[in-house]
Amino acid sequence: MWYHFRFSLDPGEENLIKAFILAGGKGAHLRPLALHIPKPIVPLANIPFLFFQIEQIKKAGITEIILGLSYQPRKITDIFGDGINYGVTMRYTYEDFPRGTAGALKAAENLIDDMTLVLNGDVLTDTDLREVIQFHQGQKADATIVTKRVMNPSGYGLVEAGPDGRVVRFVEKPPEDEVTGDTINAGIYVLERSVLDCVSREGPQSFEREVFPSMLAAGARIYSYTTRSYWQDIGSPQKYLEATFGIISGRMKLPSYPLKSCPPNRWEKRQVQIDAFSILDGGCIIKPGVVIENSVLGENCRIEEGVLIKDSVIWSGTRIRQNARIEQSIIGRQCHIGEGVRLRAGSVLGDKTSVTDYSVL
Ligand code: GDD
Ligand code: MG
Repeated sequence: MWYHFRFSLDPGEENLIKAFILAGGKGAHLRPLALHIPKPIVPLANIPFLFFQIEQIKKAGITEIILGLSYQPRKITDIFGDGINYGVTMRYTYEDFPRGTAGALKAAENLIDDMTLVLNGDVLTDTDLREVIQFHQGQKADATIVTKRVMNPSGYGLVEAGPDGRVVRFVEKPPEDEVTGDTINAGIYVLERSVLDCVSREGPQSFEREVFPSMLAAGARIYSYTTRSYWQDIGSPQKYLEATFGIISGRMKLPSYPLKSCPPNRWEKRQVQIDAFSILDGGCIIKPGVVIENSVLGENCRIEEGVLIKDSVIWSGTRIRQNARIEQSIIGRQCHIGEGVRLRAGSVLGDKTSVTDYSVL
């Protein structure tokens, strides 16, 4: 059984809004983590990433979700299936080659009705999406773009808007010396169906670089909704770590946390120190003298005597030998970290990496 309900935003007018998630990127900047797991399902706090988006979408009353896939699609469909276990209806579109952000929505054209909520499949936020949709309707916008003020806007798309929120200019990833503002495209849009008329069927096309700027030039009503809520993308290992901290610190408000049945972790309580922020998935063996602070461990890790793990993420099946020190690092699945190894801030190890005893990275 699944929950499927219609909701109405305007009294008297019933909307059945669908969400479309862009989940076809290669995750190139998240290598080596996204080599064997596509970015939309990398484990974040031990949960496949898209789970957090699905929950946020459901919270807005939307239960029909389309995933636009291109890279390693089977790994994604195997997890979400028809959506039943997640309380949604999940459908998929497949691109034979990456069609770009706008091309991907165009490829899903026959599944799209009137208004669509579109999300980049790598942004973590507790923004109230229902409020975004209401704002969009209130402005009678053709497109609404969720924006966020950030400290370091370089590497993002900049969105410039007037005092009324109407967008006047897009600058997609300008060089650092041409960054003119601090308000970025947060990768979440509400789009009227008419937007699809601005996307051609041929070749790859990008909302950010082509479709939005040309709509603006043609006088379309594009609005910016600036969120003050938690927002973080997972586009690079550093950002992935930030998003992890957002979750385990509680700064990112979760609508719910999935219950998993896991084997118990094993350690002697008086002999290890694990702080309240840290999450261990299950089946982990933690030996005496281990200290774990502000970190996430996947299932079946084995952490030996005297190891320190701080501000780090360790994926499942990894073994860390005695007295290793791991700080602000990410370690993939089934790695072997030798005795006395030191992983300093910023280390990122792909799956099955083996690090020789006493190495310093
Ligand atoms: N289906 C499909 N097909 N999805 C795609 C394709 C494609 O050809 N290309 C990219 N995507 C998906 C990615 O998987 C990701 O979820 C989303 O579209 C955005 O692509 P990224 O590659 O992650 O873009 P970005 O992070 O460099 O920039 C975008 O996000 C920023 C916010 O995080 C832009 O929208 C920026 O303007 C924005 O600031
Ligand atoms: Mg991204």
